[in-house]
Amino acid sequence: MNPALRQEYLAALGLETWVMRGKSALAAAPSEFAAPVESPVAPVAPVAPVARTAEAEMSRDDSTAREAGFDWPELRARVAACTRCGLCNTRTQTVFGVGNQGAEWLIVGEAPGADEDRQGEPFVGRAGQLLNSMLRAIGLAREQVYIANVLKCRPPGNRDPAAGEAAECLPYLEQQIALLKPKIMLAVGRIASQNLLRTDVTLGRLRRQVHHFGVSRVPLVVTYHPAYLLRTPGDKRKAWEDLKFAREVCARV
Ligand code: URA
Repeated sequence: MNPALRQEYLAALGLETWVMRGKSALAAAPSEFAAPVESPVAPVAPVAPVARTAEAEMSRDDSTAREAGFDWPELRARVAACTRCGLCNTRTQTVFGVGNQGAEWLIVGEAPGADEDRQGEPFVGRAGQLLNSMLRAIGLAREQVYIANVLKCRPPGNRDPAAGEAAECLPYLEQQIALLKPKIMLAVGRIASQNLLRTDVTLGRLRRQVHHFGVSRVPLVVTYHPAYLLRTPGDKRKAWEDLKFAREVCARV
């Protein structure tokens, strides 16, 4: 990417002084930031499974099987008509996902917010603008990737998804993944990361490692949620490291 353009994207991320450097410059950079670029891909870290109820597990297995085999239009129609949890009573519309159905990158967030519920597209609000800038900083246009959420419906008041809601909704995402066959998944935020990895390990401990998702073992990297970064701009540098790490992982697949 053109260096001036990259600088512009980093500025949009709030990282005005951060530019891609040569290896020698990276070696001199603080180790906290240089490590993900310089070091080999970390091995898969075993993570403790989240405790789930037997009912939630059964429901998850049943509904996963129900979604398998649908093509994109069928799956979209199933999601649009979904009444599997109480969120169908409060949503304006479902938010299926958006992007390139041949994408190598799948970005997964938590759930639609008010803007997304209104427009029917993930990450269209302020957090979405920052997500776009984050992607552009590693040379990806929003149109090149696929963006989806763990939940297809907005939880009222943007509360955290309930375990049962995530269990009912995840099979839709799993079928999206089966259709998309991404090279890499980027989970943004604690909620998406913990639900996808079925763990209660903190986001801080899940960062800087390559995880794998599902039976197809899609490489998965986690980073901070853009809404969190809007509130905590000091962590944008860490997000930038995560993005570079994810790009490196993708290049190795
Ligand atoms: N936050 C998310 O996690 N997803 C969206 O689609 C919007 C905001």
